[in-house]
Amino acid sequence: MDAAADTRGAELTRFNTFGLRARAARLVHVRDADQARALVNEADWAHTPRLVLGGGSNVVLTGDFAGTVLKVDLPGRRLLRTEPDAWTVEAGAGENWHDFVRWTLAQGWPGLENLSLIPGTVGAAPIQNIGAYGLEIVDRFDSLEAIDLDTGACRSFGGHDCAFGYRDSVFKRQPGKWLVTAVRFRLPRPWQPVTRYADVARELAARGIGAPGALDISDAVIAIRRRKLPDPAEIGNAGSFFKNPVVAAEACVRLLAAHPAMPHYPQPDGREKLAAGWLIEQAGWKGRDLGPVGCYERQALVLVNRGGASGADVRRIADAIMADVERAFGVRLEPEPVFV
Ligand code: EPU
Repeated sequence: MDAAADTRGAELTRFNTFGLRARAARLVHVRDADQARALVNEADWAHTPRLVLGGGSNVVLTGDFAGTVLKVDLPGRRLLRTEPDAWTVEAGAGENWHDFVRWTLAQGWPGLENLSLIPGTVGAAPIQNIGAYGLEIVDRFDSLEAIDLDTGACRSFGGHDCAFGYRDSVFKRQPGKWLVTAVRFRLPRPWQPVTRYADVARELAARGIGAPGALDISDAVIAIRRRKLPDPAEIGNAGSFFKNPVVAAEACVRLLAAHPAMPHYPQPDGREKLAAGWLIEQAGWKGRDLGPVGCYERQALVLVNRGGASGADVRRIADAIMADVERAFGVRLEPEPVFV
């Protein structure tokens, strides 16, 4: 292993998109699967706390990390199969997600366009079942390969094994257990546009596009995201900071009586998903700061690092927002990123 790939006492600030200051006792850049398996065979591995990092766009580092951080840098992307009803494409876990999406579109294999411009890596995408504009990973997932960091064994996961939920999977529930090495996507043929999300339909209409292709949808999604969401390269953030809460139908009816304009989305199980961004805005937090962390002025669901924030600062504003939303609406918000 070359020296740069394995560092003691490493700074993590540039490896988390929130830009939070933290150090790791050890940082290993995983560039091939053998390297990860070699770690598992080290004498004190079983007692070493571990953190697997992709793009670092879904973590809140609350302090220094006393164990080993595995930064996944596994490269590669290829077409595996062309069948009458689908293309199957595979990418290494370390590939940048958005670059991968644009590459599939350029190759003529559409299907991931609604997930354009989501920060992070291919390997992180299934961990929290990333989703946006009417599509989630689960809708295009084929299978993935992962290394069991307790034993070093490789294992394949089908869709069912991943137990995908809203921003959730088996991997998110077992932090440090699995290192995803490669992910395969099944892109159905013939391609069909997903344009039911109001923002996408509006953006396409504004561009005068009646019968969009996959690239049109990708471009529309990119434009919408640029308008609403801060670019982590410019302003530290971790995307949506809270999940959209799902409440019982009766609770939704009660809330609507007091707030007729409240957005709500019926779920297959009869419950209703509410818009956390709307609740936070109504609670008066949109555009407000607490210390060096702010509630973003263009999308209240996003917390931003105004400069020099720590994990404790993030927790303070998150707790304050959650308390105010609960007081105003009786709804308990749940953070989306993983606190480390
Ligand atoms: N809203 C407000 N004020 C705000 C933000 C939103 O009133 O400050 C309202 C909007 O007007 C709309 C509703 O809330 O009626 C929903 O807003 P939006 O369409 O912007 O989506 P979201 O529910 O806030 C979710 C995802 C995003 C994803 C978008 C688009 C979660 C936690 N967030 O946000 O995902 O890009 O839908 O599909 O599910 C992410 O997970 O990091 C992320 C950015």
